[in-house]
Amino acid sequence: MIPRKAAWVGCAAAAFAACVALAHADEAPEIAGDWHSSGREFAAGAFTADVAIAAAEGRHYTVAGAGRYRRGDQPYTVAGDGVRSGKTFRLTRTVAVGAADRLGDLHAAAAAGDGKRVRAVYTISGDGDRMTGVLYAVAGGFGGYETLTKTRAARASRIVKGPYLQNLERDAITVLWETDGAGPSRVDFGTSAALGQTVEDARPVTLHEVRLAGLPPDTTHHYRVATGTVASATFSFRSAKPRGAPFRFVAYGDSRTSLGMHRKVARDIGASDPAFILTVGDLVEDGNNYDLWQQDFFDPLRDVISRIPIFTTLGNHERHSNNYFNFFALPGNESWYSFDYGDAHFICLDSNSPYEAGTEQYRWLEADLAAAAAATWKFVWFHHPVFSSGQHGDTDRAKTLLVPLFERHHVDVVWNGHDHDYERNFKDGIYYVVTGGGGVPLYPRTVSHAHWSFWRANRYSQVFKGLLEGAWHHCVVEVNGRTLTMRVVRVGGGELDSVSITK
Ligand SMILES: [Fe+2]
Repeated sequence: MIPRKAAWVGCAAAAFAACVALAHADEAPEIAGDWHSSGREFAAGAFTADVAIAAAEGRHYTVAGAGRYRRGDQPYTVAGDGVRSGKTFRLTRTVAVGAADRLGDLHAAAAAGDGKRVRAVYTISGDGDRMTGVLYAVAGGFGGYETLTKTRAARASRIVKGPYLQNLERDAITVLWETDGAGPSRVDFGTSAALGQTVEDARPVTLHEVRLAGLPPDTTHHYRVATGTVASATFSFRSAKPRGAPFRFVAYGDSRTSLGMHRKVARDIGASDPAFILTVGDLVEDGNNYDLWQQDFFDPLRDVISRIPIFTTLGNHERHSNNYFNFFALPGNESWYSFDYGDAHFICLDSNSPYEAGTEQYRWLEADLAAAAAATWKFVWFHHPVFSSGQHGDTDRAKTLLVPLFERHHVDVVWNGHDHDYERNFKDGIYYVVTGGGGVPLYPRTVSHAHWSFWRANRYSQVFKGLLEGAWHHCVVEVNGRTLTMRVVRVGGGELDSVSITK
């Protein structure tokens, strides 16, 4: 849950400032808050925004936010102020600053666009807890609108996400949940149903993140979360096994845009009872759409990630959204990170960010692999497939930049997604697995880069399973000493693949 950086630095800072102001607001909290808008395609692009509205003085409000105009993916910031009348909030002045030559200024003026300028009017109204609004924009002769929605109670009245578990460490774990209004965070936990230990944080937040430390290894812990008088049921998890102990984990991915299939895969993952889950990304159709996180990710996984921690990675569909970084608690900078479990070292990369030699990510990866030289097993996962016979095909820069590093440092297995199928590839001692069947629509085996209309065989492919095989699945990996077994479980039962490695 690290504040977003990178391309939205300025915007994130502005939004943060507005959120801080909100904490001191004494009027109309039903209007102030974080608003999210995304998705609608314009005639020649798309317009997304995260806007924070904070009460300033009296009936006047300030607005700050960040957005992305997707005709070339230019970022922009939004700033302005407005006046509240009853439960209607109307911006009187809005200015957005983006790539000036492409986007121009964004004003709330009523005049039409002139081909270079973008004009917008925000009208936000509501009836208390449930607020709706409209953003209208005109840019160079085309336009559209967004509906902004946000449910925000002044005080927490229910848990809307979780609790869910992340960041399993040797002797710690992080518990997260979201409430519909702000309040303190409390976790009661213990090795018996009587619980007995408590961690509290008095800060009023809606996204709660509590780390439980000092856990004895390989032990069932019970826990319950609470925000004020709102409490969850009691759940349980298993703390990490010690070095040398056999363990099981799951890798899977591409679970977005599911109409129930992700729920079925999630149920199977729960039945496999892993120590933790790795997901290779594309968790939601659009990471900037707040509501989709509930539909695509948190609801299908609800009964699983309340007891099994999940380590996520960024797919292209997450769009580096603030939501991703807000919802998740991961090691390091949360885009790329590593952790140890048993005698294995796990490395998550962000294949949407630069990883050319000399970049921050590449230098981090080199150092991390070198530091993990003594680990018996080295596993890597990220979104875009190194080798793939699927629709997207190989990722050439991964082959050029990452594979030499993986080979030099004796990585054992790499898991990727992005292509909606299952594939096992093998090159120079390393397995490259595509596990992109977590719920997305599948496609049959196609040539790589099919739109180029020629066949380019993937000569490292050993097994490929696609639409015709009903290849929604998850990978179950058992590590026992110097032997690894990976079983690929088809949704509803049956096996798509099985492979063993002994070192
Ligand atoms: Fe993808």
